[in-house]
Amino acid sequence: MDDNTLYSTIFRRKSIRKYDLTPLPDSTLERISGVVRCLRPLNAQIKTEMKFISQADVQHNFLRIKAPHYLVAFSEKQPGYLTNIGFMLQQLDLFLAAEGIGTCWQGIPRPSKEVGAESALEFVIIMSFGLANEPLYRQSSGEFKRKPLSAISNIAGLDDLLEPVRLAPSATNSQPWFFTGDEKLIHAYCVKSNFLKALLYEKMNQIDMGIALYHLHLAAQVAGRTAVFSQHAGAKANPPDGYYYIGSVELQ
Ligand SMILES: Cc1cc2nc3c(=O)[nH]c(=O)nc-3n(C[C@H](O)[C@H](O)[C@H](O)COP(=O)(O)O)c2cc1C
Repeated sequence: MDDNTLYSTIFRRKSIRKYDLTPLPDSTLERISGVVRCLRPLNAQIKTEMKFISQADVQHNFLRIKAPHYLVAFSEKQPGYLTNIGFMLQQLDLFLAAEGIGTCWQGIPRPSKEVGAESALEFVIIMSFGLANEPLYRQSSGEFKRKPLSAISNIAGLDDLLEPVRLAPSATNSQPWFFTGDEKLIHAYCVKSNFLKALLYEKMNQIDMGIALYHLHLAAQVAGRTAVFSQHAGAKANPPDGYYYIGSVELQ
């Protein structure tokens, strides 16, 4: 699917929590598998594994949203692995939404023990998908409940690239991101949580950061630029108050 289609989906997608439980046709699932095999990582050094499972393979106590299909992401536990999975699965979220298939990130459910035991990697997160039994799209970007741009960045003159980032989905819609820098080099930071909140949210927040970085990457591509991800010691040493450093994006 071309970047322009994925990009325009940012402005109308929404989480789908009501599904038609009829399984998708095999041919559709095969196409989705093909897309999953080609998901682009933020860090290609981190091993990941994706598995398609059904409702029966999700632990019942944690299952709040019933869908015909779920994708489970596993990863090697290396620095940045959660952000890497966020970056990868957001590509699937946009692809499926663009194809008319509903999705929802699932921070609470876990795969069954049997499915967990099939991977040597660490379980990270599940995404539900299937045909929607509710409206699939928002009618306009005004329907998104999001912070204003001024609350997520202090960079001037980059609104066209930061607006799609502002609309990114995040766990409990917390939008934990803040961006500093300039038109050529952007530094991404994540909000610090207190000890108790960190237990619950730190993992999700780092996945959220990967989602936002994918929206930035896509917006840059569509604007004819390339986003190159790196680590900057200076930016890491100087986070805004209340935030910690995730990474930097050079816009070429
Ligand atoms: C990492 C992550 C975990 C999430 N976990 C859940 C979840 O467990 N249950 C749920 O209903 N929605 C979950 N969501 C969906 C968010 O609540 C949703 O993205 C956010 O409220 C913004 O709404 P939107 O996606 O419709 O734009 C999750 C989203 C993310 C990014």
